[in-house]
Amino acid sequence: MLSHRGWGKSPGNKCPHPELRSLRSLNSLALRSPPQQVAEEVEGSCAYDDESSGRAKGKLLLRGRNLPSCKSNNTRSRGTLMTGTRLAGRRAIITGAASGIGAACADLFAQEGAIVLAVDLETAFAQARANCNAAARGVHLLAKSVADSDAPEKIIAEALSVCGGVDILMNNAGIGTNALAEQMSDDVWQRTMDINVTAQFRLCRAAIPHLKESKAGRIINVASVMAEGTDYGLAAYCASKAGVAGLTRTLALELGKFGITANYILPGAISTGMTRPLWDARPEIRDVWAKKSPLRRVGEPIDIARGALFLASDDGGFVTGHGLNVDGGLMLRV
Ligand SMILES: NC(=O)c1ccc[n+]([C@@H]2O[C@H](COP(=O)([O-])OP(=O)(O)OC[C@H]3O[C@@H](n4cnc5c(N)ncnc54)[C@H](O)[C@@H]3O)[C@@H](O)[C@H]2O)c1
Repeated sequence: MLSHRGWGKSPGNKCPHPELRSLRSLNSLALRSPPQQVAEEVEGSCAYDDESSGRAKGKLLLRGRNLPSCKSNNTRSRGTLMTGTRLAGRRAIITGAASGIGAACADLFAQEGAIVLAVDLETAFAQARANCNAAARGVHLLAKSVADSDAPEKIIAEALSVCGGVDILMNNAGIGTNALAEQMSDDVWQRTMDINVTAQFRLCRAAIPHLKESKAGRIINVASVMAEGTDYGLAAYCASKAGVAGLTRTLALELGKFGITANYILPGAISTGMTRPLWDARPEIRDVWAKKSPLRRVGEPIDIARGALFLASDDGGFVTGHGLNVDGGLMLRV
């Protein structure tokens, strides 16, 4: 099982999220806000360089500070960690990549030969570091909130600096919020919009000139099955995810002539930092969602990563404007 705290396999991790409570719905289950969102967001960048770079020699670098290196038994260089070539040489930005779906995508894309810039909050990377494995080597880390006003500029500049360009933009960072519409504050509504959809739009806009220079530009935005469904308390979340769908379809229309595809993924109930705390505390709730799927299980981050890999690779080259449900059939029944 992929850990929401780390870069790879770390069974037995216990999530530190303290604010669990009983929730009624998939969204309630899936979309609890991680503690990172309310933690102090500190700008900085760090990169875990491989031996060949001569820069880091096994140290995580965070703007001049040396951090403990990732524990790993695997001392091979990034090149030998590759298990495939479906993204060989592609330069990818993945946001929300310290945890869950984003971390799985960063791992898989790197294993398939991509040069990855993983963006997340510094607090999220700090939680992930203790568990990061060798797959993270060669994945560059940028600690940055996607909601910062200067985020697009900083993220693109870092991608150009460490990756040399942008071929793939995966907007994955997101938060869950839950409040009945009648009681929802402007702040909760706005924060949900800022992180879940406005940040995606702003980063797409900044990346477009660089994607135009790519031979196979790709935009992959992470929405949710709640772009199409809903439940109590999800006015802001559903609106933000429906916004992701509309944004992405329009980007597909506008950017097709430049050879850029734009697609969005609709994950179902996936075991990640958003869901695992509750599911660990109340396994019966996880079981409810597993039974809703014809496949009789909840999803793992790697399930979404494989869908993202399809869209990012040449395999998905003629797919654009598409919403890819990766939900184990969760939404089949009405
Ligand atoms: N887990 C599910 O069941 C599920 C279902 C549908 C959609 N999704 C979507 O999948 C995406 C990934 O979530 P996940 O399930 O992997 O959860 P997760 O909590 O494991 O990962 C989300 C990551 O986003 C990061 N993040 C949050 N705010 C950020 C910000 N301002 N700047 C940068 N990074 C930020 C978090 O630190 C975290 O690392 C989200 O967009 C979520 O809405 C998840």
